[in-house]
Amino acid sequence: MHSLWLLVVLSLSLYAAEAVKVGDKFKDSSKCKACHSHIVKQWEESWHSKSHYDNDEYFRKTIDYVARKSNGKSLNTIKIECASCHNPRISVTSTSSEYDAIAALNLDKDTAASKALRSNTISEGINCVVCHNIDQIHDNLPDSKRGIHRVTWMKSGTMSGPYDDAKSPYHNVVARDFMDTNPNQLCFVCHANDTSEEGHRFTNMQSEFVNSSKACVDCHMGSRKSGVAATLRDVNGNAKKRLIREHGFEGAHSESMWQGALKVDARKSGANLAVTLSNPQPHPLPSGFGSREIIIDAQYYSGGKALKTESLSLTSHFLNKRGKPTIPHLADKTVQNISIPALGSKTFTLPMVAGADQVSVVVSYRLVNDEVREMLELKEAIWSKKMVIKKLNLKL
Ligand code: HEC
Ligand code: HEC
Ligand code: HEC
Ligand code: HEC
Ligand code: HEC
Repeated sequence: MHSLWLLVVLSLSLYAAEAVKVGDKFKDSSKCKACHSHIVKQWEESWHSKSHYDNDEYFRKTIDYVARKSNGKSLNTIKIECASCHNPRISVTSTSSEYDAIAALNLDKDTAASKALRSNTISEGINCVVCHNIDQIHDNLPDSKRGIHRVTWMKSGTMSGPYDDAKSPYHNVVARDFMDTNPNQLCFVCHANDTSEEGHRFTNMQSEFVNSSKACVDCHMGSRKSGVAATLRDVNGNAKKRLIREHGFEGAHSESMWQGALKVDARKSGANLAVTLSNPQPHPLPSGFGSREIIIDAQYYSGGKALKTESLSLTSHFLNKRGKPTIPHLADKTVQNISIPALGSKTFTLPMVAGADQVSVVVSYRLVNDEVREMLELKEAIWSKKMVIKKLNLKL
């Protein structure tokens, strides 16, 4: 057993070469509060802060499901694969089959991999020192290398930011283009594409993105407004005025972001109701990620009395190698992709109900479709909540 142990330790220490340890002074957001408390508060509300096995039910149950269905890969090996984007400050970036053999016997508690996964350096998910400790982004690498595999880190304690004249008594600062003039490059480190265990690319936001005058940060961090980057006061008692953005990274989990996210038009078309969804955003909606869903509900009325509701679910379905329905991360293929392309539109038809003189159309969004929600047994209300995009009434 001892020689096997040595092998594991050796192979893990080789793989851990890319990771840079985050010093205790910087590793969690509480260390930034004294001077950036407003930013820390906004970030705490974001889903970047929930990107960890313990804090996002959908993420956790997907990992458990993948580990259950995959041959020979341990739960920790899957966690480490996902960590490359979800927890990129992890100190171990891959495992070996020897590790999986040991994990299967439950003898892996003291290995570097198990310790890395338990470390509080990663428990905050995508925190300040994920984005602000990046030195370089290597866009010359193959496009499958994402997250931790696409960046090099700075020395712990140096923060990259948008300003080239900042000074801080707590940390060093450097300016980087990806924090200022070229921010999409930072977002695309992770929000580019993802591939299933079967090698199927089930989402590809970067290739579907249409360059427009707006960058990701303009919509998901708001426009630049005047404020302060740090609340620390100088000798005259003033904090430096700056142009800053919000750190809430609002997205698919916020109903307010969905209101008006698509334009909706409905009209009679022979024996059907035609509903056209137009997407003014520079990326598809849903993003194609996971099993997001858009739902069209058409409630028909006659003389003010409700007759019947017709519904249409717009979502992708995924099949495994044996042709059975599965979740995106185990998919061999996508059977239906209904997302509305960037700056494009699609028209869908619903049956008309006889005798109706009016219809009310509600277009809404759901984070996880019925199929995947049931497979993963997701319990929290947020996954099935219908978030309204647009409502309209039409006389027939
Ligand atoms: C290439 C980077 C990358 C890798 C690797 C990756 N993810 Fe993700 N994941 C993302 C991004 C980016 C999002 C947010 C996308 C969105 O909301 O449309 C995300 C979102 C998710 C979500 C949706 C979470 C929610 O709250 O709605 C789940 C579930 C998920 N990932 C599971 C996994 C699992 C399991 C693995 C490992 C098998 C994994 N991911 C590996 C980048 C990645
Ligand atoms: C997902 C990446 C990401 C994360 C996580 C993140 N930031 Fe930022 N941050 C940015 C970007 C991008 C900018 C540049 C915004 C702009 O265009 O001005 C920025 C700007 C800043 C600035 C300059 C002032 C401002 O608001 O524009 C400070 C200070 C800062 N961040 C601190 C933090 C702290 C503290 C945390 C953790 C609580 C954090 N950031 C988490 C991406 C991130
Ligand atoms: C003792 C106060 C203090 C603490 C604690 C502190 N900072 Fe700062 N930080 C500053 C000051 C002051 C500035 C410069 C602000 C300016 O010039 O407008 C700054 C600037 C920044 C910038 C922008 C740098 C640039 O060049 O654009 C980032 C990013 C940043 N801090 C991140 C962090 C993070 C992450 C933490 C926690 C790990 C942290 N800071 C902790 C005081 C602090
Ligand atoms: C280190 C990888 C990484 C980087 C860099 C990154 N993200 Fe994310 N982002 C993720 C992951 C993973 C999730 C999903 C987290 C979850 O739901 O648990 C996510 C979620 C999001 C969401 C969805 C939030 C929601 O409520 O649905 C938005 C919006 C977002 N990111 C915007 C950005 C923007 C803008 C940038 C660039 C400034 C950026 N991200 C940079 C990994 C990253
Ligand atoms: C013109 C504004 C705009 C720009 C630019 C933009 N987005 Fe979005 N994005 C939206 C809107 C609106 C939604 C739908 C509501 C929501 O989820 O926030 C959305 C949704 C998302 C989602 C959730 C999608 C889903 O179905 O799971 C992610 C993740 C995201 N955007 C990331 C990005 C990234 C990364 C970029 C840059 C490459 C970007 N966005 C650029 C407006 C924008």
